[in-house]
Amino acid sequence: MELQLGDVETTALIPLAIKANETLRKHPRFYDKKAVEIINTLKIDTTPYDKFMSHEGVVARTIMLDRQVKEIIAKNPDTVVVNLGAGFDNRFERVNNQKIFWFDIDLPDCMAVRKKVFAEQDNVKMIAASVLDASWCQAVKEALNGRKAKPLFLAEGLFMYFTMEEIRSFLSMLKSNFPGGGLLIAEQNSKFSAQNSRHHDTVKNTKATFKSGTDSGEEIVSLVPGFALVEEHSFHEEMKKYSLRGKLFAWLFPKINNRFATIKW
Ligand SMILES: C[S@@+](CC[C@H](N)C(=O)[O-])C[C@H]1O[C@@H](n2cnc3c(N)ncnc32)[C@H](O)[C@@H]1O
Repeated sequence: MELQLGDVETTALIPLAIKANETLRKHPRFYDKKAVEIINTLKIDTTPYDKFMSHEGVVARTIMLDRQVKEIIAKNPDTVVVNLGAGFDNRFERVNNQKIFWFDIDLPDCMAVRKKVFAEQDNVKMIAASVLDASWCQAVKEALNGRKAKPLFLAEGLFMYFTMEEIRSFLSMLKSNFPGGGLLIAEQNSKFSAQNSRHHDTVKNTKATFKSGTDSGEEIVSLVPGFALVEEHSFHEEMKKYSLRGKLFAWLFPKINNRFATIKW
């Protein structure tokens, strides 16, 4: 299958390649058999997209976000989850409790490929749209009808490709379309990382560049009144468990690694 992905859309191949290769290891830290299947179906050479630091970062964030989403769903079993910039992510399979409703949203060319490799399911809806365009909100509002839980939005590997102004406008859009409140878990990269996409071990092998970064989730919540930072966790917390390089990275550069900021309104 000929892949026709734009510059930022190509970055979806990085976590896809890493999740597939991790699954094929002798002692995988998680399983994503769908990623292996997609890599084989699309005949993707994973070499440019799977380098040590990216690999460890994606493994850490997958474990951390799976855990956090499962905890939220355990407390609120009928949660509607909106996976923003979903790429080829298959988290739904790992956290599905048969009661959640799930949206995977990505730009049209990425979603066109996703729809070829993921089957339609009753409680999952795939939407081709920019997450910066409010058109997708209506479908989420309809899914929320009759459910008690507040919506949960996930932005994994996404905000770094937005300018701060785009993030501000996105947060305003969330607040005005979901006035009853909600939770957003958004991966943050540091300002240092934002200035260094050309040196990033895998993003440098795409044509995408980082547009923004923060040194604290407070910088994100202060963009729009009514948002509050619930918690923030560096990927170091998980990465340092697995390798000497991970430990050294955490020790030498405690502020440089990406983080998950959990934000509520
Ligand atoms: C690094 S990938 C992460 C994919 C997925 N979240 C994961 O962790 O496997 C970034 C994704 O964001 C998507 N993306 C970037 N800008 C977007 C936008 N404005 N609207 C929707 N998706 C976007 C890209 O197409 C790509 O799939």
